[in-house]
Formats: sequence, structure tokens, C-alpha cells
Amino acid sequence: MTAIAVLPQVIHRVDPYPYFFGSDAVPRDVLHILTDLFSEDLPWDRHDSFYHGFFAEVADRVGMPLRQQVASRLRELTGLPLADDVTITAQRMEPGDHVPPHTDRPLLGFEAVRMVLQLDDASDAGAGGVFHVHADAAGGQISWSHASRRGDAIVFVLRTSSHHSVSVTQRSRRTLVFHARHLGNDAEVANYVQAVYSKMRFDQFPASLDPLIAEAETGDSFVDKTRGAACVAWALMQWGCEDEVIGTGYRSALADGKFDDDIGPVALARWLSFLWTEHFDVDIWAELADRPWRGANSAIENAWQVLFGRALR
Ligand SMILES: [Fe+2]
Repeated sequence: MTAIAVLPQVIHRVDPYPYFFGSDAVPRDVLHILTDLFSEDLPWDRHDSFYHGFFAEVADRVGMPLRQQVASRLRELTGLPLADDVTITAQRMEPGDHVPPHTDRPLLGFEAVRMVLQLDDASDAGAGGVFHVHADAAGGQISWSHASRRGDAIVFVLRTSSHHSVSVTQRSRRTLVFHARHLGNDAEVANYVQAVYSKMRFDQFPASLDPLIAEAETGDSFVDKTRGAACVAWALMQWGCEDEVIGTGYRSALADGKFDDDIGPVALARWLSFLWTEHFDVDIWAELADRPWRGANSAIENAWQVLFGRALR
């Protein structure tokens, strides 16, 4: 069987954040099949809190060869270790619907890359429903605009900087969004992180940490970092680290917002805490995955395997 060509020709832009764009993203017959999904009785959910439109999960209605081909092409384009399957959301916007400027900051277990496939032509300039790439959160500056054209697709990696929006549409607008997961933030990672933090208890911290916590919680500048620092200490405790290492981890998380020179268990615990309290950052992940690693015990070795090892194989 010949592989389905997905996004055979792309334009790669890097400003204000990296994204890819291409026409005829899937073969014509595949586009027809995908469009026909919208005539099925889909389990539509209406969203009005932020995104204004209708949404339905449709991956189980789409053949595995196409799903795998999309995953493989997204892996190739982004160079990221993505899972070999995607989930798919059908999205329908009706006149008046829109999506204000935002960034899809990937929380724990969220997808890392999206491919947005357009199924309708915007027949005239007044049709609205224009996809905008923004340089900032307020959306004041529009870096690139794309009026919907059937068969076009846009791919971007979800980052805190990937601001985008869809202007108010004047007519029905259908898209399929393919979601690809990074192996560093998939269901297995989410389950692992949740399992560590679901039983976190402040009264179980070692007494040696008390003065550090007391000092941090009374200092002005550290207050916003104490939760993350406690999460670092908790992970190190769960892995059976010595009190001294737990203290080092706590202090390191308070000291700065970066990961700097931490290696081994402290870096690993800081990443775990970051995933839990902040989000998945594809660049920090790559940087940490590159660091020299030596497992200190089997619990830490196992954590490293879940967070990095599977993706590096
Ligand atoms: Fe979005």
C-alpha cells in the first residue's frame, strides 16, 4: 500500500514562533472522506467559555493509516519524538463564532503539536474566520493571516509564545484538528506525575526542611516559588533521597526560574515539579534530555525512563 502523502510541500516560518503551512495537505479523495465526517451524527459539544464553536472527537472514525501518516509527518517536520498516533477533533464555527488571541500552553498530558486542516473556502474577503498568528498575548500585532482555503493546513508546536486567534466568522467554517503527543508528556508521564503528587502531604516533609520552608514562606520574593519548591522536595522524598539532597532541591527551585546546572535527581525533580505546577516546555525537555545522566537508585532510574528514556530510544 502506498503511504498517504501528508503536507507534501510546506513553507516553514520561524517568526514570531515556528510554524508550517501548506496547501493540498492530504490527497483529494482523503479530503472528501474527512469532509463527509461532518454529515455524520457527531457528538458535538458547544464551547463558549473561550473558544466559541462546536467540537467533536472523531479519531475513531478516521482510518489508522492516515492517523499514523499524520503523526509520522509531524514528527518529521518538527523533529520531535511524537507518539505514533494522533487524536482528532472536528471543529465547526457558525456565524458570529470566533477565538480570541491565546496560546495553547500545553499542561500535563496535553498534546504538543497541532495540525489544523481547513475544509472550507472563504469565498470572499468579508467571510471572516481568518486564522491569525500573533507576536504577543494581546494580539495587537498580526504577523501572518490565513483566510480559510479548502485543503490548506497549518502546523505549530504548542509553546507559551504560540499566540494565535480566529476572527469572527460570517459563515459556517469547518476544520479538523490533529493533535500529536510528545513522548515526554503523554498519558504515561501524566499518570506518573499525578501518582507522585496526588498523595503530597506537607506534614510528612523531613524536619530538616522546616527552617528552609519557614524562611521561604516569610520572604517576599520567594513566596510565588514555594509551591514548586515543595513539589521538588516531595519528588526527591518519594525517590528515597537523603535529607541533604531534598534540601538542595528545595533551595535550587527557590533560587531561580531556570534549571541551570542541576543534574541528576535534583534536575529530574525540578522537571517533575515544573510539569505539575506549570506546563510542558518542549525546549526545556530537550535540554534536560541531553544532560549527562546517572541513575542514583531504581526509583530515580524509573522516573527518568518515564520522563525521558522512552522518547530517546
Ligand atoms: Fe488554539
